[in-house]
Amino acid sequence: MKTYLICNAILLLCGIAGVISSCEVGNMAPIANTATLPGKLSDYGIFPDGAIERPAAGFHRYHLATQLFTDYAEKQRLIHLPRGAQFSFDSSGNAVFPDSSILVKTFFYYPDKRKPSAGKQLIETRLLVKINGQWNVGTYKWNKEQTEAYLLENGTDENVSWVNEHGLRKTLQYRIPAQEECSSCHRTGRSITPIGPKARNLNLPLADHPHQENQLLHFEQTGLLTLQPSDLLAPLPDWQSPSIPLAERARAYLDVNCAHCHSATGFAESTRLFFGYEIPLANTRIRARKDHILHRVEATDPDIRMPQLGTTVPDSVGVALIRAYIQSL
Ligand code: HEC
Ligand code: HEC
Repeated sequence: MKTYLICNAILLLCGIAGVISSCEVGNMAPIANTATLPGKLSDYGIFPDGAIERPAAGFHRYHLATQLFTDYAEKQRLIHLPRGAQFSFDSSGNAVFPDSSILVKTFFYYPDKRKPSAGKQLIETRLLVKINGQWNVGTYKWNKEQTEAYLLENGTDENVSWVNEHGLRKTLQYRIPAQEECSSCHRTGRSITPIGPKARNLNLPLADHPHQENQLLHFEQTGLLTLQPSDLLAPLPDWQSPSIPLAERARAYLDVNCAHCHSATGFAESTRLFFGYEIPLANTRIRARKDHILHRVEATDPDIRMPQLGTTVPDSVGVALIRAYIQSL
């Protein structure tokens, strides 16, 4: 990984110069887990009969208004809390979970996206597990038989092939991230943290519920969430909704695909280019860095292209949205 080499080189220089504490990049050294995770996914009992469609009681599905793009992979997201416990939001709208909470994200492809009922190819199940107040990351790679998934700490590349919604065959080398790639995105300062469960990104109508019930209210009613009225303000838009203004959609997309690194406590903190949805445009450097943003999302050189981790192909629809937004500024 080029960035780690650069970081390590800078770290070394800072160390030699004796200014390690004032060296910004030094703080970006990878964060290690504080606990050892079991080697097999089945040890968690998340999918008792082996099918992801039927998670165990106590593993609750959740949806995000705007999602991260990961090489067209489909994703299933689950929250697990200790029995009788609740989660809540802090004053910034970030979810606070009790110890022993588990967040689960399974990545898969439909061999034929036009026929989702014809089966899935499971690739990996990523976990965030809170143990003694610290989050730990781990990903489990599914075997060929699709019967078990095994902890994989060093990452790997997987050939995947599927037919998309337009009937076109697509192939790519999907990247299963190494543990230090997980913590590059999932970091706030020196801690590993969840990214998706924010009040604004969970604040959406549930399409498959009668009366399209609001997800936050649903979690409150089912006893999973302690909700404050302020948590319901300012939902994050769905970046794909045509009825929402361009700027709103683009800022939602940049929030979910870029802001976990590009924030004051993130991996790309030293760029001072922050994409959080809550930051008013005038307080971001988006306008000043217009050309750079476009250049970096459109680049084909993987050492230049953004997002720096998590994808091997550009999200052409997302890039088109960013281009339209940047040109409108
Ligand atoms: C490119 C940045 C990136 C990398 C690398 C990455 N994640 Fe994430 N992850 C995200 C974002 C952004 C979300 C929330 C958006 C979503 O779920 O679509 C997320 C969501 C998750 C979730 C659901 C809970 C949450 O935080 O939203 C889990 C669990 C998770 N990631 C685990 C991992 C693990 C384990 C790894 C390494 C194997 C990893 N992630 C690597 C960016 C990343
Ligand atoms: C995994 C973390 C990560 C993610 C996700 C990420 N970046 Fe970056 N980005 C970096 C790092 C680290 C740098 C500084 C090193 C470099 O320039 O390559 C950077 C640099 C940049 C720069 C150059 C800095 C400047 O001021 O010109 C731009 C522009 C940029 N990123 C845009 C984006 C956009 C847009 C996204 C989302 C589509 C994104 N990045 C997602 C880590 C990330």
